Amino acid sequence: VRVYIAPHNVIVQCSKGEILADVIKRVIPEFPTPCGGRGFCGKCMVKVIQGELSEPTGNELLHKIPKGFRLACQARVLSDLFIEIPAIGKLKVLTSGIEPKIDEIVPLLKVTAVRLEKPTLESPIPYDRMLSRLVGSRDIKPRVIKEMSKKDLRKTDKLKVLLRNGVIVNITSHERRVLGLAVDVGTTKIAAYLIDLDNGENLAEGYVLNPQSKYGDDVISRITHVMRDQNKLHEMHELTIRAIEELARKLCKELNVDLKDIYAMSLVGNTVMLSILLDVDPSPIGTAPFTPYLSMSLEGYGSELNFKSLGDAWFYIPPSITGFVGADAVADIVTAKMLGVIPPSLLLDIGTNTEIALLMEDRVVVTSAPAGPALEGGNISCGVKSLEGAIYRVKVNEKGRIVEYKTYGETPIGLSGSGIVSLIAELLRHGFLSKSGKLIKDLGNSFEVIPSKILITQKDIREVQKAKAAISSGWRMLLEVAGVSVNDLNEVFICGSFGSNIEPRDALTLGLIPNIPLSKVVILGNSAGTGARLMLKSEKARRMAENIVNKSVFVEQALHPNFMKVWLDSLTFGN
Ligand code: FES
Repeated sequence: VRVYIAPHNVIVQCSKGEILADVIKRVIPEFPTPCGGRGFCGKCMVKVIQGELSEPTGNELLHKIPKGFRLACQARVLSDLFIEIPAIGKLKVLTSGIEPKIDEIVPLLKVTAVRLEKPTLESPIPYDRMLSRLVGSRDIKPRVIKEMSKKDLRKTDKLKVLLRNGVIVNITSHERRVLGLAVDVGTTKIAAYLIDLDNGENLAEGYVLNPQSKYGDDVISRITHVMRDQNKLHEMHELTIRAIEELARKLCKELNVDLKDIYAMSLVGNTVMLSILLDVDPSPIGTAPFTPYLSMSLEGYGSELNFKSLGDAWFYIPPSITGFVGADAVADIVTAKMLGVIPPSLLLDIGTNTEIALLMEDRVVVTSAPAGPALEGGNISCGVKSLEGAIYRVKVNEKGRIVEYKTYGETPIGLSGSGIVSLIAELLRHGFLSKSGKLIKDLGNSFEVIPSKILITQKDIREVQKAKAAISSGWRMLLEVAGVSVNDLNEVFICGSFGSNIEPRDALTLGLIPNIPLSKVVILGNSAGTGARLMLKSEKARRMAENIVNKSVFVEQALHPNFMKVWLDSLTFGN
């Protein structure tokens, strides 16, 4: 059967009985399914103009959906269909960030050019021995021997030998480039960077939406799917590996280079993403004591992770600290440290799960804060992701009128997380919102940004307040545990897409970050991606990652006797 999707003007072919949301996502990956199709959030509502769908489910009835509308994640397609969904633009994705200068490029694989001598009857040295002698290695991987036979070394004399910790892991012809791929496997998007391993030059970068998003926007939704059905784990794993290969192929095509020239990969992500990457059950991270199966650094051939086109590439995954402070947070910290951070400084990677680190001289004190989806537009009546059409800045005058708003693209469709923060900060600054989070009487229960179209409600503000409380109680607890005062802080680093989109002044007004001079706030951009690149290029960065984990102290906030008091204090806006 065929599904026609307006206003996008696309027709998708599908089988009878398929879930409508799955069908839509095949052509419009940005179509929102925040709760992963469990029927809880109601954000996947579509208008059915014509055609037959399965009977409404219990969850749909609970949502009291208007006549003619259905939840796409609940309805199954039974005939040709004509539906209308909201206009959905492309997601604004941040891939770049500040990259520190590296004193010495020491890539993950050492590349040594050699000239082979032809074996003779007088000196019949086997090829593996000859190679090992030339590069001073004692070990060689079996697949290199196979590769030698494929290259027919009797005909070649110049080669590049690729070594990892003194072991020959690959060889290539001397004229081929040796490339590396750094990958940040985020919950929302997968960003990849192509790098020349000879000189550390960044050649290309790009991203794709994480295809696991059909199982929900956040890691908990994905874990829930795996808990219900282990096959979903394998499906998510397969989707992720193929998405990385597809992205790598696209970057190689842009540069007109061969995918086979990628010989090394560094992969960072949170522990749930890394578990899925390894096809390992992430469920233990979803329940107390939130302990993942993996936390140590891992390396090996891509084929061990089920890569096909990148099966011969040597991968490196840096270590994680704990269940909710993964290798992506370690990559953030590596980036900040290589930029020359002066301790004590604070680092925040703000998201549904916010990682917070206090960087001290001799240790790193870390925690994670379950901020929830409000700061990414989730659970907010007119909240949207950072899509085209999302309002990301708002200016209010002293009369309580909107004087300006900025939108990605043309037509406003809702408020992005940074737009919500901007609006709340403006309302606070002009006295329309009290520090306790109450809109002033004259405004009633909501504030309109675009009359009858886009507004923020009192309930939305409470959601943001809870997110703010989670984050600021996180850094307050770290400062308390380490005996550091806000005045001692040298810098505050903000990482990640959301953090890079907010105005630092707004973050200060809300009290998302400590009250320090604006000049001390550093926006790092996608520092997890930067850290992944650094770990591909620099031995110092890889050693630093190990060191950070060894010297980290995780603070479980809920166990601290002052937690409840600090959390309640943190509910107030401002510092
Ligand atoms: S209700 Fe359909 S994705 Fe949440």
